[in-house]
Amino acid sequence: MDEQEASERIEELRQQLRYHGYRYHVLDEPEISDFDYDQLLRQLIALEEEHPLLITPDSPTQRVGGPIGDLFAPVRHLRPLFSLDNIEATSELDAWGSRLRRGLGRPAEGFSCELKIDGLAVVLTYEEGKLARAATRGDGVTGEDITANLRTLKSIPLRLLGKPPRLLEVRGEVYMPLRAFEELNRRQTESELRIFANPRNAAAGSVRQKDPGITSGRDLGIWIYQVGLLEGGPPLARHSEQMAYLSELGLRVNPTSKAVSDLEEVKKFLLEAEKKRHDRDYQTDGVVIKVDLLADQLELGYTSHAPRWAVAYKFPPEEQVTTLRDIQINVGRTGAATPFAVLEPVQVGGATVTYATLHNEDELRRKDVRISDKVIVRRAGDVIPEVVGPVVSVRTGTEKPWSMPAKCPFCGHPIERPAGEKVARCTGGFECPSRVREWLFHFASRGAMDIEGMGYKTIDLLLREGLIDDPADIFLLKPEQLLGFEGWGEVSVANLMKGIEAARHRPLQRVLVALGIRHVGGTVARLLARRFHSLERLMSATPEDLAGVEGLGQVIANSVRAWSLDPDNIALVKKLADAGVSMADEEPQAGPSSDLLAGMTLVVTGTLESMSREQAESEITSRGGKAASSVSKKTVALVMGESAGQSKVSKAAELGVPVIDEKQFLRVLSEGLDALS
Ligand code: IVH
Repeated sequence: MDEQEASERIEELRQQLRYHGYRYHVLDEPEISDFDYDQLLRQLIALEEEHPLLITPDSPTQRVGGPIGDLFAPVRHLRPLFSLDNIEATSELDAWGSRLRRGLGRPAEGFSCELKIDGLAVVLTYEEGKLARAATRGDGVTGEDITANLRTLKSIPLRLLGKPPRLLEVRGEVYMPLRAFEELNRRQTESELRIFANPRNAAAGSVRQKDPGITSGRDLGIWIYQVGLLEGGPPLARHSEQMAYLSELGLRVNPTSKAVSDLEEVKKFLLEAEKKRHDRDYQTDGVVIKVDLLADQLELGYTSHAPRWAVAYKFPPEEQVTTLRDIQINVGRTGAATPFAVLEPVQVGGATVTYATLHNEDELRRKDVRISDKVIVRRAGDVIPEVVGPVVSVRTGTEKPWSMPAKCPFCGHPIERPAGEKVARCTGGFECPSRVREWLFHFASRGAMDIEGMGYKTIDLLLREGLIDDPADIFLLKPEQLLGFEGWGEVSVANLMKGIEAARHRPLQRVLVALGIRHVGGTVARLLARRFHSLERLMSATPEDLAGVEGLGQVIANSVRAWSLDPDNIALVKKLADAGVSMADEEPQAGPSSDLLAGMTLVVTGTLESMSREQAESEITSRGGKAASSVSKKTVALVMGESAGQSKVSKAAELGVPVIDEKQFLRVLSEGLDALS
């Protein structure tokens, strides 16, 4: 390639990278996979290395990070943050090893291998051991001040342990655990709010909030992976020693990091890390390999955009482009019709993906996904595969927009979306087999009756053979009805029977969840069970009785009332009771509940979901405890609800008072303070 051709190709690559960078960072609607983006970037880097005179300051290779927003005050980092050069194969690792040897005049002495966490890079500054500032990475030189938000993360110490250094700047990655991500999206869907594309976006969205109360309500973690600047600390010769030191100071350092002596061992680490990548509670997208000896790092130095002493090994992509063959719908237990994608099967992150979620009708509209589109499919760990969006640039014009079918594909009844409602529903009621199947599955599931062995496979068999029509039929099953079906021997039948037997005696709260009353999830069910103790009493409660239950809004009260009056539900409840299913809890003894919290002071801040502040305080006092309004040394725990008071949270962190969430608080109320250990 001559200079002229190179120049043209470079310009072309830059334009493509700018466009895709904009789609990714600004619009959050990428058209190509991360992998393809990296390929383009690598081509550009290679060409620029061959033709250094063609490098311009505005080339995408010269930028360290994303643009900084204007929502937060700018913070200049004490030391700039660089990117990392990527490698994709172990041969490239050997090539890096050779470069190191050339640079040092001898092989590097030891490496640190670390998981590359897929989250949001942040910088924490500690002055005299106190958290002085937290910032996003920004463009690498200047970031955004997010101190108030990051102070709410329990895994970030506000004060370092032991004898702290005079000044410490560390870098780390804030992430959202996978479970928390799914739970957040579920809640967002329920509240008809924006859905996050992946845990990284969810973490970024949670951190870049004007209201720290929102950040504090999100489950976020952090892994610290680098010292930016350390003054007035012990002399340390290696990166791995620095990490051990940070860990002693109380900073969260990933325990899977490993110091090894040569590249052969690095390769073993890479294989292990890739094999286990889905076993973790957070997303990783590769492994970072660093030269361990700090003197060697200094000698090797930096290129214009990355250190020479570190590289990132990227796992194979978990995003692929494939064809969207069709969009079909599921009908859930409430009749809600939700679209999903049927794909040309494609390998993503080590699994074949044929179906992917499109979340809901509005989301599908927003993304403008059409049948026959080329779409980006993403799979992240345990997270259900999803369609990220269409690749608009390769459309041929034959793609067909989708619309919700007029009739339910399972029962033929009309699908309707009442004005003002977010979801379309099948109107077939219990004549819809899909709805009945989902209803049975929900009834038997973990948070509800928890019937061991009653998954989709069993339910499908029972429905197909006409052995059950509704949940009560489950309790009328006889072993001999099942024996002899394929895969059903004495042992499996006996196990299922045992599971069913156990489910006859679930607490009322679970029965209420299992019945699937609209708006009645675990928290509301607990309130109702605590107030009424039996289903009979709940069902005959007047609207006033219901409205009088603390924490219960009008919408829920109406829903419970309507459910209780429905003849089908009355019949079902009778059938369940006749089948020997427990429909009441034993009533608690009157008087003070216990002295479980005798002599202990707790402070409640913010709003709790399941009870009001006053109620929480009376729960504490009825157990012999004291509910105070400010945190002191005597406080045994600070209960933090939504929009908690920042000063209380900081004070607690300063005094080393445990900060607990609502779930933990409820456990403390039933088990005492031992629940925290
Ligand atoms: S070290 C100069 N270590 O990857 C070295 N980075 O492409 C700076 N990252 O922005 C980075 N896990 O957000 C390092 N164990 C780890 C990492 C890690 C994730 C991210 C980091 C950085 C990006 C580099």
